[in-house]
Amino acid sequence: MKSAVWMVLFMSAVFSSFQKINSQLVVNLTVIHNATSLGAVCLDGSPPGYHLHRGFGSGAQNWILQMEGGAWCNDELSCYLRSKTAYGSSLYMGSWNFSGILSNDPNMNPDFYNWNRVFLRYCDGASFAGNSEYRNGTKRLYFRGLRIWDAIVHDLFPEGLQHAEKALLSGCSAGGLATFLHCDNFSQLFPETTIVKCMSDAGFFLDVKDKSGYNNIRHFFRSLVKFQGVEQSLSEKCVNSHHDPYLCFFPQHALKHIRIPYFVLNSAYDVTQVDNIFVPLSSDPCGHWKNCKLNYTMCTPNEINILQE
Ligand SMILES: *[C@@H]1O[C@H](CO)[C@@H](O)[C@H](O)[C@H]1NC(C)=O
Ligand SMILES: *[C@@H]1O[C@H](CO)[C@@H](O)[C@H](O)[C@H]1NC(C)=O
Ligand SMILES: *[C@@H]1O[C@H](CO)[C@@H](O)[C@H](O)[C@H]1NC(C)=O
Ligand SMILES: *[C@@H]1O[C@H](CO)[C@@H](O)[C@H](O)[C@H]1NC(C)=O
Ligand SMILES: *[C@@H]1O[C@H](CO)[C@@H](O)[C@H](O)[C@H]1NC(C)=O
Repeated sequence: MKSAVWMVLFMSAVFSSFQKINSQLVVNLTVIHNATSLGAVCLDGSPPGYHLHRGFGSGAQNWILQMEGGAWCNDELSCYLRSKTAYGSSLYMGSWNFSGILSNDPNMNPDFYNWNRVFLRYCDGASFAGNSEYRNGTKRLYFRGLRIWDAIVHDLFPEGLQHAEKALLSGCSAGGLATFLHCDNFSQLFPETTIVKCMSDAGFFLDVKDKSGYNNIRHFFRSLVKFQGVEQSLSEKCVNSHHDPYLCFFPQHALKHIRIPYFVLNSAYDVTQVDNIFVPLSSDPCGHWKNCKLNYTMCTPNEINILQE
């Protein structure tokens, strides 16, 4: 599975969703400069960042953290290319337009518009979960997603997160998957009186074989977990009950061991999963599924049956 394909698909999805926005709330980037002293850095060694828009009124003590998505990088080339973009370096990050669940407009976001809303920038390439470094000659890459997660949360604590009455950890796509890896750890930061819940939007990547019977996504996640040193971020309870730790990177295996209330939102015909996991190009070399993948209304009854299964 080629990482570049993941990236293109993810970005086209993001840009098409932006076109529906009318009013814009532009929020500046906060760079955590001193996080570098803790080794919490993006792929290229630059400091990590987030965007915070303050809550108000009845939401002033409530916090929603949204982890950015954007696929993964699992080898030298894909991580190196990524380190030259906003998905791997804060040098390329700008402000962020808050919409949807991050909007301050009660019409667009009735439940959270007046909460403190935070968008965590994703610049490590392993769902905020790697913890290692890579060297090859003069090339150096940092896989410090776990430290970035810690650095952001600890930067937000004195900003008021520590006194949260309600806290929701959410994320989309690779960021949705990240919530499964950090939900328990997040909840343990707060006293028992804080109501903590987690939510994954389009992050429930299934452990399934592709159409040709090959488990493409297992192969990809295994290489990712190994390359970026993700093992430490995986739930100990989950790891103890599986023959291979990397399986705990899959939400369906990790979720069984999470004690926090969870909201899981995932389309049955999630385009990323159908195109990359269930019917990747390698499983359909003759392109029989081309029309169906372009437009689900063009799937044959047989193809729909296969997807439904
Ligand atoms: C974000 O909002 C600004 C200001 O309204 C606008 O110029 C820009 O195009 C928006 N960016 C995206 C990606 O929608
Ligand atoms: C955001 O950044 C711009 C450009 O640096 C600055 O002019 C503006 O005051 C900042 N806004 C806030 C709310 O800090
Ligand atoms: C970074 O700076 C913030 C405030 O400027 C401070 O609260 C925090 O303790 C510092 N962290 C480190 C690791 O120095
Ligand atoms: C290390 O770098 C060399 C030269 O750029 C390259 O040929 C080789 O494939 C790299 N090693 C790995 C493991 O990617
Ligand atoms: C959360 O994870 C970090 C990094 O692994 C660890 O240092 C910290 O102790 C954990 N916190 C809790 C409350 O488990």
